[in-house]
Amino acid sequence: MSTNFQYQHAMDDDLLSSIANRHCTRVFLKRPVSQETIQAVLSAAASAPSSQNNQPWQVTVLMGKSRDALSARLCANFDQGVAPTPDYLNRPIDMPGELQQRVEDYGRSFLGFKGIARDDEVGRRNHRRDNFLFYGAPVELIFHLPANAAPGTFLDLGFFMQNVILGFEACGLASCPQYSVASYSDTVRDHLGFGRDRIIISGMAVGYPNKSARLNRFVPPRAPLDDYTQWYV
Ligand SMILES: Cc1cc2nc3c(=O)[nH]c(=O)nc-3n(C[C@H](O)[C@H](O)[C@H](O)COP(=O)(O)O)c2cc1C
Repeated sequence: MSTNFQYQHAMDDDLLSSIANRHCTRVFLKRPVSQETIQAVLSAAASAPSSQNNQPWQVTVLMGKSRDALSARLCANFDQGVAPTPDYLNRPIDMPGELQQRVEDYGRSFLGFKGIARDDEVGRRNHRRDNFLFYGAPVELIFHLPANAAPGTFLDLGFFMQNVILGFEACGLASCPQYSVASYSDTVRDHLGFGRDRIIISGMAVGYPNKSARLNRFVPPRAPLDDYTQWYV
């Protein structure tokens, strides 16, 4: 594995650099985000490609009291040991060994970076619980799809979500997608007043990054180019 750090200096102002240097933020400032900024990003993001231009994405923006109330409900679920009931799997049941290794490396290195020992049950619990506090972000987005979504529908939404992420970066904002939030799908559906005809795909914490927070400097490595490219030339 190697990191793509070389981009940081070579291409500072261009799109490629923004793509290469984007990483999750998990410590946010309390500074509010304007609705106009969110509207601008979501409008631009809808230029994402989609199969036959079907544009299946839907996103619910939670700020203020509605954000706080969902966070409280999710934290209560977590604290009471309510079993998550995600609407879909975010990984294969039989994860190929190489991918599983990355997952394990990520978990170990992230906990290590935070100084949480493997046998520190309370530390590990709080680490997971931070998801439901939305990492302190003032905005939580919920991405959802029709219940009959096909694999291609998920792909369409993925393009949209990455546009949203990069759009926020362009505005000096940062984000973290959250399957953890979507995994309490019944609670999210109930909070948003949705029926079973919608499936909850992902949360996303959004806000201004706390740039002095050490945790925001955690960058999981990426596999080198040759590991994921084949050239038939
Ligand atoms: C669909 C999806 C769901 C994710 N869910 C979570 C989550 O629940 N909590 C979290 O802290 N990070 C979550 N992440 C972030 C990943 O852990 C992160 O993207 C990955 O470790 C690579 O790190 P980086 O994005 O900072 O480079 C999610 C990412 C994706 C794409």
